[in-house]
Amino acid sequence: MPFIIWNNSYSIGIESIDQEHQTLVAMMNDLHDAMQQNNLEEKDVLKDILDSLLSYTATHFNNEENYFDQFEYPDTDSHKKEHADFIKKVSRFKIRFDKGEEALSYEIMVFLKDWLLNHIKFSDKKYAQFFIDNGLEKAITDRLTS
Ligand SMILES: [Fe+2]
Ligand SMILES: [Fe+2]
Repeated sequence: MPFIIWNNSYSIGIESIDQEHQTLVAMMNDLHDAMQQNNLEEKDVLKDILDSLLSYTATHFNNEENYFDQFEYPDTDSHKKEHADFIKKVSRFKIRFDKGEEALSYEIMVFLKDWLLNHIKFSDKKYAQFFIDNGLEKAITDRLTS
């Protein structure tokens, strides 16, 4: 059974952003699976997945933040701060992990999962209607059909 099972309560109603969130969930599930496997390459595999997770998280946050700037979203500052705090925490862990000072633990997996799901449900959902009112899905449809 996957560590995180996606369900509709995590959908914010904007397909492109839901897809990015699902990619993050899939990456966290991969990380969890790799953590549970006991083999010699384990650390390299974990390192690669952690690298990808961090860089995709940064890309995803940037995508949201570009829309905040473009649409002049009122809660921009507090939302950007949540993103920055998460990146800072995970980057700090990554540095300790790479140096062999800290292992990936179940507690860290639970932290990643809870942070992501709570952030989607309580912070990302807040901007959804505002983005839709600013024509986000329409802009994407236009781009796909042009
Ligand atoms: Fe998000
Ligand atoms: Fe966000």
